[in-house]
Amino acid sequence: MTESALDPSVFLDSSDFRAEPDEQLQQLRTRYIDLLRDTLTMALWDAADGNQLPIAQEGSAVDLRADGRDWPQLAHTMTGVARMKNLQFCVEDVLARGIPGDFIETGVWRGGSCIFMRGILAAYGVNDRRVWVADSFEGLPPPDPSKYPADAGDALYTYSQLAVSKEDVQQNFRRYGLLDDQVVFLKGFFRDTLPTAPISQLAIVRLDGDMYESTMDGLNNLYPKLSEGGYLIVDDYALPGCRQAVTDFRAAHGITDPMEVIDWTGVYWRKGADTLGDAAIEGSTLPERYENLIAEYHRLATENRLHSATIAGLQANYLTAAQQLEMLRSSRTLRYTAKLRDAYGAAKRTIRRSH
Ligand SMILES: C[S@@+](CC[C@H](N)C(=O)[O-])C[C@H]1O[C@@H](n2cnc3c(N)ncnc32)[C@H](O)[C@@H]1O
Repeated sequence: MTESALDPSVFLDSSDFRAEPDEQLQQLRTRYIDLLRDTLTMALWDAADGNQLPIAQEGSAVDLRADGRDWPQLAHTMTGVARMKNLQFCVEDVLARGIPGDFIETGVWRGGSCIFMRGILAAYGVNDRRVWVADSFEGLPPPDPSKYPADAGDALYTYSQLAVSKEDVQQNFRRYGLLDDQVVFLKGFFRDTLPTAPISQLAIVRLDGDMYESTMDGLNNLYPKLSEGGYLIVDDYALPGCRQAVTDFRAAHGITDPMEVIDWTGVYWRKGADTLGDAAIEGSTLPERYENLIAEYHRLATENRLHSATIAGLQANYLTAAQQLEMLRSSRTLRYTAKLRDAYGAAKRTIRRSH
């Protein structure tokens, strides 16, 4: 008798092709978050958004938008894809690690970065953290060079393109279905709102106020409320005034946590990273650290100072490390850093044990 083509044992159950519920949920989260990010930045459209920046810029309009170098006509955030991915990484990381506190952005413009943070909270079903949305909603303050010499001559306050009303920002939140009581607006210049803001603890502080004064007001008032292990993100490090404020603040407070580069203007650091050991290894310096580890493996293996069993263990970790590094490179996201960190830690411990 020939085997029936319909013998059920030869067919896989259709559920074998379906993701497990947890996996499905994770896939949906990822899809929602990616879609939200690419909508907010307009990366979803391979087309030019109008650029309102009043100075000539080199590069195609599509590239300027992707890099966040323009003042877009339509997009709900000025930041580009890399800075939004960094924000996603920071939010997901503090959620995964249980770093306590709310999230704040100082300098929100149309609200895109704050909408993104609120959307990620929604994707993870987090309802005990708030997103603080701090802005004058009337543009930047005129510079006060007697108090902040680094702001002398700053003309950003004259640009109406940078003044977006609170009502417009609220309407943008509504468009995404994300305006609720987990979103709190702080209207006014930072010097007036931040010192008395009823915020008790923060896990993420994102500074995007362009000027020395705006950056320093954010650092002075919010950094003390940032939890150990939380992230301080600076959008405007390419602007001399902002950079000077960050340098002055870090020097005045003896902050040595390594500052990581996000893209051509964004930087961030993890509070307390210097004292958190391996757990603090994050983001853009990770590939270099991995490469160092791999180089170290080669050196030790070449010198043949390891027992064969140790070499086998180390080799497994090395392969994991190399694969993960490749994943990170090809995906160009920070999503794999947790896996990378674990593999890195395991390989490093093996190397230590082998000495
Ligand atoms: C470059 S835009 C922010 C872009 C925004 N983060 C995004 O994702 O598109 C700068 C914003 O900072 C605000 N701003 C700058 N300095 C400020 C200050 N000292 N007080 C209040 N708002 C300020 C401006 O009103 C403006 O909305």
